[in-house]
Amino acid sequence: MSNFKNLVSALEQLVDPCTGLALAPPRAGWEVQGDLRACRVELVAGYPLAADAVSGLRHEVAARVEAAGGGFAAFEVRPRIAAHAVQPGLSPAPRVRNVIAVGSGKGGVGKSTTAVNLACPAAAGRQVGVLDADVYGPSVPAMLGLSGRPESPDNKSIEPMRAFGVEAMSIGLLVDADMPMIWRGPMATSALTQLFTDTRWGDLDYLVVDLPPGTGDIQLTLTQKIPVAGAVIVTTPQEIATLDARKALKMFEKVNVPVLGIVENMAVHVCSNCGHAEHLFGQGGGQAMATQYGVPLLGSLPLDLRIREQGDAGTPVVAAAPDSAAAQAYMAAAQAMAAHLAARPRASMPIASTPF
Ligand SMILES: Nc1ncnc2c1ncn2[C@@H]1O[C@H](COP(=O)(O)OP(=O)(O)O)[C@@H](O)[C@H]1O
Ligand SMILES: [Mg+2]
Repeated sequence: MSNFKNLVSALEQLVDPCTGLALAPPRAGWEVQGDLRACRVELVAGYPLAADAVSGLRHEVAARVEAAGGGFAAFEVRPRIAAHAVQPGLSPAPRVRNVIAVGSGKGGVGKSTTAVNLACPAAAGRQVGVLDADVYGPSVPAMLGLSGRPESPDNKSIEPMRAFGVEAMSIGLLVDADMPMIWRGPMATSALTQLFTDTRWGDLDYLVVDLPPGTGDIQLTLTQKIPVAGAVIVTTPQEIATLDARKALKMFEKVNVPVLGIVENMAVHVCSNCGHAEHLFGQGGGQAMATQYGVPLLGSLPLDLRIREQGDAGTPVVAAAPDSAAAQAYMAAAQAMAAHLAARPRASMPIASTPF
């Protein structure tokens, strides 16, 4: 037994490949079973790790077991996604463990595209939803290829619709596509809170909220009324876009919503004929902003014809072409986002009572 104790302390020194933080309580826990000659090691992680992260860890775990004088039989990772702390005065909504807001300063930088591609990667043990908070210009239904009306069996609440294993709700599913949303601020904001509270979400680990551009009424409502565990900022590398993205970042900081990271979009265009790489919107803007504010750069997406085409076709690139470089970049960003959230404090404060 005491050997296992030493082994567990050795395992707790391994670091999370996404965050560089130790895989130790309260973020993660280790369980060792069997006997030292043939032990089964299980990592209980706060988010689902991608296959390459697991195989990297498997080598390190084997080395630690060997160093402890043991024999290695098996290694498994089990995700256990907790609800994380939200703004002071609010608590997480029932059935939605973590709301993650995707925001930007400017429109047209690829926020909705990023939101659906962060939500869609199929990963075992991860239930995700998308809430389209752009009530004036909803684009989530088209990007997920959704049509028809959601059902409302009790005439009070609405069932989310499903696409690519993801639950989705949008005002665009409730009104005709060509109907303009001629709403005053209070109507638009109450539409957002109703979409959030009146949707019968399943048991979601993450609800990705696609915000309209800017820092107006909708964003204010979101940060005051809806419990948000973290935010992701989308920007292009251009100076003018990062200037606006900084405002969005500051808004989240002001209301105590942690910024989990930045996604730089349209960073580079690779010519499909000659392979020449061009930085159409400048270079390094996302990284510079991340460094300045001490937040991670979750990913840098190329300007890629397929991202646009798949978006228009209603099949996000992560679902349509999961092996493409663009899809891989989104998947890595989704994993990094989940990893940085998992490193945040839990919603239920007493750390001592956490399951690890
Ligand atoms: N990385 C990308 N490469 C190519 N086209 C993109 C990329 N990101 C977004 N787009 C396209 O740019 C347009 C605007 O993106 P969208 O996600 O709607 O922006 P926002 O929600 O910020 O207004 C869409 O037509 C989308 O398909
Ligand atoms: Mg949008």
